Amino acid sequence: MKPCSIAILGSTGSIGLNALKVVDQHPQRFRVKALSAYNNFQLLESQIKNYKPAHVAVGPQGLAHFKSTGMKGVKFYPIENCAQIASLKEVDTVVLAMRGTSALMPFLEALRAGKTVAPANKEALVIAGDLIMSEARRHKARIIPIDSEQSAIFQCLDGQKLKPVLVHLTASGGPLREVRSKDFKRMRPKDILRHPRWKMGPKITVDSATLMNKGFEVIEAKHLFNLEYNQIKVLVHPEAIIHSMVEFTDGSLLAQLGITDMRLPIQYALTYPERLPTGLKRLDLTQLGSLNFEEPDLKRFPCLGLAFEAARRAGTLPAVLNAADEEVVEKFLHGKIDFLSIYKVVEKVVLRHKIIKNPSLQDILQADHWARQEARNILEKLCH
Ligand SMILES: NC(=O)c1ccc[n+]([C@@H]2O[C@H](COP(=O)([O-])OP(=O)(O)OC[C@H]3O[C@@H](n4cnc5c(N)ncnc54)[C@H](OP(=O)(O)O)[C@@H]3O)[C@@H](O)[C@H]2O)c1
Repeated sequence: MKPCSIAILGSTGSIGLNALKVVDQHPQRFRVKALSAYNNFQLLESQIKNYKPAHVAVGPQGLAHFKSTGMKGVKFYPIENCAQIASLKEVDTVVLAMRGTSALMPFLEALRAGKTVAPANKEALVIAGDLIMSEARRHKARIIPIDSEQSAIFQCLDGQKLKPVLVHLTASGGPLREVRSKDFKRMRPKDILRHPRWKMGPKITVDSATLMNKGFEVIEAKHLFNLEYNQIKVLVHPEAIIHSMVEFTDGSLLAQLGITDMRLPIQYALTYPERLPTGLKRLDLTQLGSLNFEEPDLKRFPCLGLAFEAARRAGTLPAVLNAADEEVVEKFLHGKIDFLSIYKVVEKVVLRHKIIKNPSLQDILQADHWARQEARNILEKLCH
């Protein structure tokens, strides 16, 4: 079989590293044609030596470094031109493992070039899901999600062949599930960054603590599977063994179960519809004991309610929610604001926004810019 040529955008992050481990597991199946990273050019350099991509996009510091040292056979691009390497002729599949809205243009360009896109990144779908899905349809390009919940839904629906009446999006409950609400104010980044089930990048781990991450996944699922927002139920499932479920009109439920290791959904996206061994330990059902489920507590985790509202009202609101959250979480991670301020600031920005319905790309980018500025203005007064 001809190897699949892949571009991994965000190769130095948690998802990017796991994607490269999948490549290591099946070296005969993949050729790494392109990589990108932002700051961590030392790690990127060792990846270039290992995987020999011909195209690499990197942030300004890395670009200056590689320009001075040079690397034979590699073409370097400024990170802003990442979309160019997502649409290269020699690439079959693009793994979107970069964080933030910077994934939007590479996502769109890859689809326009007819590539298969495997997004772990959720921000792009949150802010511009309608545009992305319409480009995918127009160019007959495939999207096979990596995000574990979306992958679970995709697997239960056998790709996109079946139509569910409901999707049960499971949530582990995050690092604060067992913390008393009155202690939330005291939570520092180091407390939050100890996620009980998943080892992920810092931004998504904070979003898991507020449950904003689950809210983003509701919006993501709505677009990926063409659902109404009220067809998506969030279900807290602390063991994180069931990665999501779909319910059909006859009341039957299908679930996807697995260990909590992102290599599983990454490999599935890269080998779909084939399944190959992962080399990971297998799920031992006899060791599980019991599986528990509970309703999410929207009073304790109001960011989830805010995201439901953004999913319902749509237009430019999800972009505003995402941009404000990105600004605010950054400040929290730098110890500038307390945990409870995350919701307060994001909510203020969301309430001030005048929604544009059926937005163009330009409207979305403007809303993103506006929300960041609003959040910064509010944060300036708050920051210690
Ligand atoms: N981690 C998980 O288990 C998980 C699960 C589901 C979904 N996701 C989603 O996957 C995405 C990546 O998450 P992660 O946890 O892997 O993040 P991460 O560990 O923070 O890695 C982010 C990657 O993006 C690069 N990057 C950062 N800022 C960038 C910019 N402005 N332009 C281009 N590249 C940039 C980073 O480069 P440097 O390292 O050089 O800075 C790094 O390679 C996020 O959207 C997240 O929500 C992650």
